[in-house]
Amino acid sequence: HASERESMMLVTEYAQEFYSDTLWNTESGKAIGLSYFKERGFSEETIRHFGLGYNPDQWDAFTSAALDKGYSLEFLEKTGLTIVKPATAEGSSEKRFDRFKGRVLFPIHSMSGRVLGFGGRTLSSHKKQAKYLNSPESEIYHKSKVLYGIYYAKQAIAREDVCYLVEGYTDVIQLYQSGIENVVASSGTALSSEQIRLIRRLTQNIVVLFDGDEAGLRASLRGIDLILEEGMNVRICSFPQGEDPDSFARNNSKDAIEAYLTDNAQDFIQFKAALLTREAANDPIRKAETVRDIVGSIARIPDRIKREIYVQECASLLGVSEGVLFSTLAQLGKKQA
Ligand code: CTP
Ligand code: MN
Ligand code: MN
Ligand code: MN
Ligand code: MN
Repeated sequence: HASERESMMLVTEYAQEFYSDTLWNTESGKAIGLSYFKERGFSEETIRHFGLGYNPDQWDAFTSAALDKGYSLEFLEKTGLTIVKPATAEGSSEKRFDRFKGRVLFPIHSMSGRVLGFGGRTLSSHKKQAKYLNSPESEIYHKSKVLYGIYYAKQAIAREDVCYLVEGYTDVIQLYQSGIENVVASSGTALSSEQIRLIRRLTQNIVVLFDGDEAGLRASLRGIDLILEEGMNVRICSFPQGEDPDSFARNNSKDAIEAYLTDNAQDFIQFKAALLTREAANDPIRKAETVRDIVGSIARIPDRIKREIYVQECASLLGVSEGVLFSTLAQLGKKQA
């Protein structure tokens, strides 16, 4: 419903202004939110550019401001900005809470710059609180269809003809501040085909930048297969243990970051073949699984010439004959058809 979506976007855009205004112009915003971002090394210009904000640490500071401004509770609830707890039989009345109470906020934009939702980071170190809380799925916010930073990055992605894909909000912001503007984040969700197609409108080339502490690296490899399936070229680059692109960019110049990326970005299939081969070591059964796994990735590539080249390369990397790889590829092709 178009007018419903528009009403939801209007209240979300009001929220972005409110959170930003709170960050810059209130005592708690400056003392808590603004100083948090500055301690992370974000400049004032960067904080303004990305429209970062803060929601006061009170139950309904945002919700009551929005209602005072005339925004309706219906859309505050539908966007998830306000959580409504119905009145109970015992007689307690309806209660309204700010979803992002006490959190700093990263607005998430569409390709055309509309605010669709937020990522909210807690400032408390209690393990009970999720570090990041995001807007819930709604008519305007579908987490598998947005990429954090795409609105700011789109021109640079097209100009540089490559897109860096990172995990988190702060990775995008810190790289951008360092002068690397062609960067977007999947924001912690498994990469989807819709997200990849957003990038494919701008370039055929993706470089995936992984956190250095990745326990989930293997799981993420599945998402990367989807990039191959879209016919794009994928390189992959990991960071030293304990570092992510945010911390790395904070401690290095633009030239040093670019040099690191150039030296360490590796073709995805080669990266995966090397990684899995290392893990399989001398275990023949795991080695066989590895071969099937790699061939599974190669089978996703739509371009037949590229597939052939990868088969040749992987045969020597994995120490098996090209013949066995081609026949496995043919078997997989039949199953997929
Ligand atoms: N994420 C999330 N919910 C969590 C943890 C993470 O949605 N509980 C998403 C966020 O988008 C986050 C991304 O996954 O940015 C990457 O997670 P992580 O590397 O843990 O966070 P960082 O972005 O490095 O955040 P920070 O530096 O603030 O700790
Ligand atoms: Mn929809
Ligand atoms: Mn991580
Ligand atoms: Mn991280
Ligand atoms: Mn981080």
